[in-house]
Amino acid sequence: MQFGHFDDEAREYVIETPHTPYPWINYLGAQEFFGLVSHTGGGYCFYRDAKMRRLTRYRYNNTPVDDGGRFFSINDGGDVWSPSYRPYKTELDFFETRHGMGYTRITGERGGLRASVLLFVPVDINAEIHQVTVTNTSDAAKSFSMFSFIEFNLWNAEDDQTNYQRNLSIGEVEVEDGAIYHKTEYRERRNHFAVYGVNAPIAGFDTDRDTYLGYGNGFHEAAVPHAGKAGNSVASGWYPCASHQLEIELAPGESQTFTFTLGYIENAEDDKWESKGVINKTGAKALLERFATTEATDAEFAKLNAYWDQLLGSYTVESGDDKLNRMVNIWNQYQCMVTYNMSRSASYFETGIGRGMGFRDSNQDLLGFVHLVPERARERIIDIASTQFEDGSAYHQYQPLTKRGNHALGSGFNDDPLWLISGVAAYIKETGDFAILDEMVPFDNDESKAQSLMEHLKRSFNHPLEKAGPHGLPLIGRADWNDCLNLNCFSSTPGESFQTTENQAGGVAESVFIAGMFAAIGPDYAALARRRGDEAEAVRAEAAVATMKQVVLDHGWDGEWFLRAYDFYGNKVGTNETAEGKIWIEPQGFCIMGGIGVDDGKAIKALDSCREHLNTPHGMVLQSPAYTSYQIQLGEVSTYPPGYKENGGIFCHNNPWVIIAETIVGRAEYAWEYYKQITPAYREEISEIHRLEPYVYAQMIAGKEASRHGEAKNSWLTGTASWNFVTVSQYLLGVRADYDGLVVDPCIGEEVGEYTVRRQIRGATYVINVKSTGAKGAKLTVDGVAIEGNTVPYAAAGSTVQVVASL
Ligand code: GLC
Ligand code: GLC
Repeated sequence: MQFGHFDDEAREYVIETPHTPYPWINYLGAQEFFGLVSHTGGGYCFYRDAKMRRLTRYRYNNTPVDDGGRFFSINDGGDVWSPSYRPYKTELDFFETRHGMGYTRITGERGGLRASVLLFVPVDINAEIHQVTVTNTSDAAKSFSMFSFIEFNLWNAEDDQTNYQRNLSIGEVEVEDGAIYHKTEYRERRNHFAVYGVNAPIAGFDTDRDTYLGYGNGFHEAAVPHAGKAGNSVASGWYPCASHQLEIELAPGESQTFTFTLGYIENAEDDKWESKGVINKTGAKALLERFATTEATDAEFAKLNAYWDQLLGSYTVESGDDKLNRMVNIWNQYQCMVTYNMSRSASYFETGIGRGMGFRDSNQDLLGFVHLVPERARERIIDIASTQFEDGSAYHQYQPLTKRGNHALGSGFNDDPLWLISGVAAYIKETGDFAILDEMVPFDNDESKAQSLMEHLKRSFNHPLEKAGPHGLPLIGRADWNDCLNLNCFSSTPGESFQTTENQAGGVAESVFIAGMFAAIGPDYAALARRRGDEAEAVRAEAAVATMKQVVLDHGWDGEWFLRAYDFYGNKVGTNETAEGKIWIEPQGFCIMGGIGVDDGKAIKALDSCREHLNTPHGMVLQSPAYTSYQIQLGEVSTYPPGYKENGGIFCHNNPWVIIAETIVGRAEYAWEYYKQITPAYREEISEIHRLEPYVYAQMIAGKEASRHGEAKNSWLTGTASWNFVTVSQYLLGVRADYDGLVVDPCIGEEVGEYTVRRQIRGATYVINVKSTGAKGAKLTVDGVAIEGNTVPYAAAGSTVQVVASL
């Protein structure tokens, strides 16, 4: 069952009903100002930091769900309704929400009146625009009232939900010329305020929520729109909000457009006031002035579309499969940009007050956006590397505003160091910017401890070698990629964090997964050393990788698949010898990506085991069988009920590793089958089961042991986005950047047939035509001339290179 459809031409997903199984959202903003918006107008916005600078209020966990948003209400002769359906939930004659690239357009029609709300954040402007067009579709003249409404958040989103003894006394606003200014705490240490204005005369306003709603009412029964008359209330403490009343008259067929601007303004410390207690509104007025006309707003919207045209142009595919095309060309890349902008901060599953930027997460996100915004990737790399410690380990997270490591979470996730190498290698392959390796980068943000980025990579590389256990495998520390495999934790206190509880000392818990990562990522370190002329270091690194591979073969192989780990006591995890958690997905993918077992049949065997034990029609579960009781020696993983999250859930983040592994062993059909299982566009028809947005990946789909098998959770902010883009663009369609050229090595299901990839990189364009699919080992011609191998050398900037790949 579907609740909408893709409009690929417009790069939109069109939701045809308000009654989706969950709010289906989109993101606004690309630089510093961001908004989340659901298909029924819910969500909120913030400047740079979703916790510290939140402009509007949103209530997680609330009923009705999705409470808080930008609400427009119409009172048409006593008939009160919202074009976004919510909050009033008055039935509409027509409803449609189009989520596009950085904008959302919500249209509702009732009783011969159509209202369409376009929401977007202009490029480089710290404001959210709500452009409302009302059209009289009836054959009689209409005169009606329209009300805008937002509720202000008192800036710090955590405080806003917890500190009522203070907050309910501090709210302050000003109203001038129809614009509403939210200035809570501006009197003291803040030099920023919010403004909500409209480019039309208003008939009234409200800034006090209790007046607007009527005390005790929900948004769906707000008093002012029902009365058809604003209260002209001025908030003093309690709950500041902003609502404008517009009186509109439309002849039959006539349309009118109004632009509402919700902006964030900062003033210089010594220029805060116009007069005592009255804010200096110069910046705010200039902002409103920019959106004084519909033409000006339209021009900003056109700029936003051009911004996305340019971004999405560096990798495109044309094939006979629309679903593949739309995922590659539009939605998967779009989601990668959103993870770049948001990291794991604000979604409908992340509150924006919790997690900072993950060291591991940010490096992986980079793999999916480096081709889109290489300069910003460079900056991100330096930020991330600056939070590394001198021994190669790293803060597990850092705070985006300060870029400092997060002490509360600390360090000790022993996979972290290696991800930095993969991020840097991806960046250099994309750009050829080897000079980044000479950048002086601090350790722990201490400039006095700065060393070259290459030195950081060396310490990353050495970390697993220096922290090796009794089998020669890397020690796991707090956890590796799997945050919930906490082999040293032994937590028995409810509520204690598995990630920060003091680890028990004296254990020997080792990770086969990190060993696989070392085999997969280590060669990039060696390659970088060699290209810098340090042959001895390259040779040392290659020898260390070879040794690690042997260690995995000797101590990391269970007979039919790769082991997952050794626990605190040295017992195997992920072995056929136990009844539960016999086989885990992570080491199967990564060991094979590291080339382990590829020439002696073990890789195929491991992949066959994945197919037999882990695969389901909805993707591969993380391990099988799931744990049915709490295993204190394994940590958080077994706290989840079977089939959810890290306990037998389908992690769409590590399915791609198995897909890549299948391409490495050349099994195009399995790779393709697994890709389609988890990719949202292919799941659109089962939206009633999947339940989340059919245009973006979710972190997890409930596994086979869960009663809600196939149901997705945690959409948008997940490493799933980047890993699936890497998989489909680089391994299935098979076009990937390398140091000296573009590798063309397709391995995708026969069903796809002939296709063409256009790739822009280092200033040149490559038009790559793949003649047929279903196998691996294409022969290439470059501008008509056959070449050896599968690397197309980088061409001069400005040139266009024609590549033909035939099987
Ligand atoms: C979440 C975390 C990521 C981790 C994964 C598995 O996606 O953000 O860092 O690797 O869960 O636990
Ligand atoms: C990751 C995991 C989650 C775990 C969390 C701990 O997000 O997906 O299951 O609880 O990390 O920080």
